[in-house]
Amino acid sequence: MQTSLGHGIGMRSQHFDAWLHGPVPVPWTECITENILDVGGRPRAALEAARARMPVVFHGVSLSIGGCDPLDAGYLASVRRLCDEIEPAWISDHLCWTALGGHHLHDLLPLPYTEEALEHVTARLLRVHELLGRPIALENPSTYVTFAASTIPEHEFLAELARRTGCGLLLDVNNVYVGARNHGFSAEEYVDSIPPEALWQIHLAGHSDLGDHLLDTHDAPVVEPVWRLYERVIARCGPRSTLIEWDDRIPPIEDVIAEAHRAAAAEQRALGRGVP
Ligand SMILES: [Fe+2]
Repeated sequence: MQTSLGHGIGMRSQHFDAWLHGPVPVPWTECITENILDVGGRPRAALEAARARMPVVFHGVSLSIGGCDPLDAGYLASVRRLCDEIEPAWISDHLCWTALGGHHLHDLLPLPYTEEALEHVTARLLRVHELLGRPIALENPSTYVTFAASTIPEHEFLAELARRTGCGLLLDVNNVYVGARNHGFSAEEYVDSIPPEALWQIHLAGHSDLGDHLLDTHDAPVVEPVWRLYERVIARCGPRSTLIEWDDRIPPIEDVIAEAHRAAAAEQRALGRGVP
């Protein structure tokens, strides 16, 4: 488990000016790996300006750890090179698949949670750890379908993956809430089963309520039930590096920072209250 970095915000191109001319009053930031991989210009300058002041984490979207294509050795070599240059606090990606037959689908697609899938992802993840020279953290995805073949609850699949590989878990509390509403499972039971020793990081974000389902849009403030779930996780697991994600209808950076400060206050409330 990593030491908590506090409450940070994701770096987005709309806020590059603030990052370039800083300081941005947050303790850490997270960059989308693919946005800074093998690129120069403003993205690289903003990344380096941030890194000079605070820890940075790389969050990938194209590892496709659940996929059946061979692992992309070129991509992983580029990520490793970037890590050697920037020295991120850690790296993360998602429990999903994103490519088939060499075609990138640019979506984080769900996989069936079976023993066969667990063995498949375990073997690939161990190889990724080898190629990157470090363990990574995996995030629980937002999902809109489930598989009739699944035999393992998602939270148990993640916990077992962490046990077998030593990977960290990036718990997106909003994704848990979205999944719980869409599929009818208990969000409380889900977060209560996350092994504290494997919990490296937490994501918080907003979503859209489309009536018959929730969509993980990252375009709004965190909703009250997600704050309550977050406090539940903190009360049980202790302080954890927490990041606000805002990817659409992005407000001024001050508004995103204010949301990070709300998360810090929620953490304080949860720690004062103790384990429920
Ligand atoms: Fe997330």
